[in-house]
Amino acid sequence: MLGLLCCNPLTGGRAHAESRENNEKAIVIGYSQIGAESDWRIANTESVRGAFTMEDGFYLIYENAQQMQEKQLKALRKFILQGVDYIILNPIVENGWDSVLQEAKDAGIPVIIVDRKVSVEDEELYTCWIGSDFEKEGRDAGQWLETYLTENEKEDEDIQIAILQGTEGSSAQLGRTEGFTKIAQQHENWKIVAALDADFTQAKGKEVMRRILEDNEVDVLISENDNMTFGAIEAIREEGLTCGVDGDITVISFDAVRAALGELEAGNINADFECNPLHGPVLKETILALESGRQVDKIQYMEETYFDTDMDVAACLPDRTY
Ligand code: AHR
Repeated sequence: MLGLLCCNPLTGGRAHAESRENNEKAIVIGYSQIGAESDWRIANTESVRGAFTMEDGFYLIYENAQQMQEKQLKALRKFILQGVDYIILNPIVENGWDSVLQEAKDAGIPVIIVDRKVSVEDEELYTCWIGSDFEKEGRDAGQWLETYLTENEKEDEDIQIAILQGTEGSSAQLGRTEGFTKIAQQHENWKIVAALDADFTQAKGKEVMRRILEDNEVDVLISENDNMTFGAIEAIREEGLTCGVDGDITVISFDAVRAALGELEAGNINADFECNPLHGPVLKETILALESGRQVDKIQYMEETYFDTDMDVAACLPDRTY
């Protein structure tokens, strides 16, 4: 156990490497999380908090931005003033980070971007990025739908598609929408009748799906995360419709959290494309590599899979941690 645990790790944080040799100080990390908008996000926070423990020589300062970029900017500036050793940023949207990342760079604090990406003029403003290939997730969902329609001899029918989108301008929304749309554009009979923002939350998923169903007939729902899907399923039922296997609406979701796999097993979701939230161990390995002076890959993708109702999903559930 490090000596720092009985003293304030923020004092002299910048000199941590030297101090750690004497077992005196922890590695201080400022961690700016987007919020707690989804089951995925909660699992993501737990993974990061679980990786950086005091026992292992870390001191993690966690800031929850409650889905507001202004709060993330404030948190980052606070971390810079505190002189933390590293900043971990889960950016809510891609734009608007250049100035604050420049400030961190000027202060000599490495910033690791995780989950969603930042769009900045100078890629040297951050050390590396760890997260999901959202565009691929969207493409995979589109290709799954192609196969599903063919297997059900519906490949030539008109297919009305609604998309519940995540937070506008976030990498998860941009990537999944782009990937799925690429495939949709290859099919003249696929019509996207609505593509609306529901902010990745269950409440908005329900509200927006209800509005979509008032104005449209929907054959397929593409819901850009599981929590919006849970809300959408409620709206579909309240409208007197059915969904999933043999239902009125085929449902394709993203994340594959435990509760969604339960819905898939029950036949209410047809397919779910995993977004792996377990960033903690990869972040820890990355920071330890940087501590020992090793290079790290600038872009690090998480491993991901998908689930559908042809699979034995029940068999995966006991080992699933999120
Ligand atoms: O950025 C990852 C996305 O954000 C997840 O799909 C979603 O559940 C979360 O809120």
